[in-house]
Amino acid sequence: MTEGKALTIGDCVHRAARDFDVQGLASPRLDAEVLLAHILKVDRLYLYRNPEEPLTQEVASAFQSLTARRLRGEPVAYLLNRKEFWSLIFEVNEQVLIPRPDTECLVEEVLKVCSDAATGDLRILDLGTGSGAVGVALAWELRHAHVVATDISPGALNVARRNAGRHGVEQRMTFLAGDLFAPLSEKFDIIVSNPPYIRTTAFQALPPGVRGYEPAAALLAGPEGTVFHERIIAGCPEYLNEGGWLFLEIGPEQRQGVEALLAAAAIFEESHFRRDYAGLDRVAAAKRKQSSWTR
Ligand SMILES: C[S@@+](CC[C@H](N)C(=O)[O-])C[C@H]1O[C@@H](n2cnc3c(N)ncnc32)[C@H](O)[C@@H]1O
Repeated sequence: MTEGKALTIGDCVHRAARDFDVQGLASPRLDAEVLLAHILKVDRLYLYRNPEEPLTQEVASAFQSLTARRLRGEPVAYLLNRKEFWSLIFEVNEQVLIPRPDTECLVEEVLKVCSDAATGDLRILDLGTGSGAVGVALAWELRHAHVVATDISPGALNVARRNAGRHGVEQRMTFLAGDLFAPLSEKFDIIVSNPPYIRTTAFQALPPGVRGYEPAAALLAGPEGTVFHERIIAGCPEYLNEGGWLFLEIGPEQRQGVEALLAAAAIFEESHFRRDYAGLDRVAAAKRKQSSWTR
């Protein structure tokens, strides 16, 4: 920072974008604008309209501190403590995975089978809720549903609870800490999960911002990345109602393995896979055979 003449909005954005670019960040200008707009509590358009506006020393040093963190690789969502998912703003911090746009496909798939069941009690289980993104989005969309959200991380559950409160669905959600199904003693109509699914050997190849900042417990899932899919499918006889649906987010390379696990479970009458908007297999859906459960 120069002594004397105050830096302007334009100076700050330009310098930070240049430094981010040199560092190889994917969207240098956007990151710089988003961070400065956050500190100034304005939208990005304001920055374009007021490039000559001088910044106070306080704002300039707050911006410098955020840009330094960004240069070390910290994701923008953690710097802002927020991320948009399903057009809702979620609080995020380093206790939770940053919700990904791909995961919206999981929500979309659940809504396809639930849209018919607009009345009555619908019991949904979101395993490994993290920030609550999936569970809160479903509770938000399905006003007749009760969503039980579990996570092994009490810190994540605190974030998820606050996100449910922020979106006014906390009275139709229950948050339970524990290992997958361990805290549960009831059956559900829908079980949905975006479980950890990174192969242990793939960890080092993850982008530094993911590897260095997002919780490892939200990512890693054994040599094939399917440890959690296997355990969740194995839990379905006990926790999924007959005629109910299981939805699992998968990595594209896991389709075959998950397909085999679903077939071996021998409790599902149909299953299908859904691609994300990049054309990659992203969601496995399976309907449990029905003998007594009806919509
Ligand atoms: C990939 S993240 C998904 C978070 C969130 N559902 C989302 O889509 O953004 C997986 C989550 O599973 C949780 N988790 C990991 N192991 C678990 C276990 N054994 N039992 C319950 N949750 C677990 C992690 O803490 C993390 O929040």
